[in-house]
Amino acid sequence: MNAIQVGLLGMGTVGSGTFAVLRRNQAEIMRRAGRGIAITMVADLDTVRAQALAGDGVQVVADARAVIANPQIDIVVELIGGYGIARQLVMEAIAAGKHVVTANKALLAVHGTEIFAAAHARGVMVAFEAAVAGGIPIIKALREGLSANSIQWIAGIINGTTNFILSEMRDKGLDFAVALKEAQRLGYAEADPTFDIQGVDAAHKATIMSAIAFGIPVQFDKAYVEGIAALSAQDIRYAEQLGYRIKLLGITKRSFDAQTGVVRGIELRVHPSLVPMKRLIASVEGAMNAVMVHGDAVGTTLYYGKGAGSEPTASAVIADLVDVTRLHTADAAQRVPHLAFHPDAMSDLRVLPMGEVVTSYYLRLRVADQAGVLARVTGILADAGISIDAVLQREADEVGFAGEGQIAQTDLIILTHDTREATMDAAIAQMQALPSVLQAITRIRKEELA
Ligand SMILES: NC(=O)c1ccc[n+]([C@@H]2O[C@H](COP(=O)([O-])OP(=O)(O)OC[C@H]3O[C@@H](n4cnc5c(N)ncnc54)[C@H](OP(=O)(O)O)[C@@H]3O)[C@@H](O)[C@H]2O)c1
Repeated sequence: MNAIQVGLLGMGTVGSGTFAVLRRNQAEIMRRAGRGIAITMVADLDTVRAQALAGDGVQVVADARAVIANPQIDIVVELIGGYGIARQLVMEAIAAGKHVVTANKALLAVHGTEIFAAAHARGVMVAFEAAVAGGIPIIKALREGLSANSIQWIAGIINGTTNFILSEMRDKGLDFAVALKEAQRLGYAEADPTFDIQGVDAAHKATIMSAIAFGIPVQFDKAYVEGIAALSAQDIRYAEQLGYRIKLLGITKRSFDAQTGVVRGIELRVHPSLVPMKRLIASVEGAMNAVMVHGDAVGTTLYYGKGAGSEPTASAVIADLVDVTRLHTADAAQRVPHLAFHPDAMSDLRVLPMGEVVTSYYLRLRVADQAGVLARVTGILADAGISIDAVLQREADEVGFAGEGQIAQTDLIILTHDTREATMDAAIAQMQALPSVLQAITRIRKEELA
């Protein structure tokens, strides 16, 4: 059988890796796919560089639409990125009856509903393993390997840049700004790191996993997103003393009513979280990724590996190419559904607003070192029905003084049991109003992941 013909849009980091791995392993990949997979056409703005990377036998053009218009091309691989031109090209490729492979999480998290509906109507596949956790085959695990399960929750370290920064902060006692500079110097963070440090990139990936795990539409606009810029080295230290590491987690969870046991909705959130040190995921350091998935039948599973980089991401792109090659002659109805659940069997479970999320908390209050402060703080928590798990009080001389001739300060660190976020918001506002609370209260959510 002739090789299936692939057109590649964007010969950048992932595009060039895809080329290199496909070329290096072509014989084995062919034995798996059942036929050859050949990238015969490439579009990139820099045609000279792209031609040098692709070699002579490949047609290189500047206009991506020429690839889509080529009737010989069966699969279009979109590796340009962003929501702009990439969205138009993906929609045009689908309309032209091409299967699409993409690594573009931003595009799918925001416009996935439109893209998957178009692909379903046209009977083509849109494959996106590389869009979540790079080289880790988490999409395949969720969509196929775990399809017997009712997925209960997913928690992942799905942004290598922020995990690298947090590791540096912990290892070297650095503050956020210094660790970020170090990450940029070493190439782990981009010149504009906004999407990473604000949690947006992780939220894109969590949104996609949420859809696949629970059979709900992709709803990035409903995700709660909080980044790591406000974290201090001090909180990382205190967490450590209490037996926790701080990680930026992407979390999506089926949330049950505590009284009735009925599903209330789906939690979808990205924020720094205290994770017990004894969990394996707490040891995931540097730029590595890891995703925990808890299914009712299988229990907890953990997937670990490189979440970015040229060849790790190419590994996922090519796995999708193999899948599409194997399945493209199959009747569309027999294929694995894009979002794991058949489009006519999607759930309308709502994504819960953050105020309705139930979790536990780490609180740090910089307070005046005076008698009665602890009692007032714990009194507010008790009145709100928030039960305390642990309290740690630093010695005043470890923390310092508010200023010359002023009162000594101390840090109160409180771990709570589960409570509703809205209840915690109200309690924090009350505690913040106490004259003996000297700074903005730090609140970090805590996940036991048991
Ligand atoms: N890098 C990773 O480790 C990684 C991991 C997982 C997922 N991803 C995703 O993979 C995608 C690609 O990322 P990347 O890191 O490979 O990006 P990249 O290195 O910036 O590559 C993008 C390439 O697309 C080219 N391009 C831009 N506009 C184009 C157009 N209109 N027509 C044709 N080519 C165009 C760019 O050319 P110029 O350079 O000349 O502008 C560049 O060569 C993104 O969606 C990203 O989120 C990346």
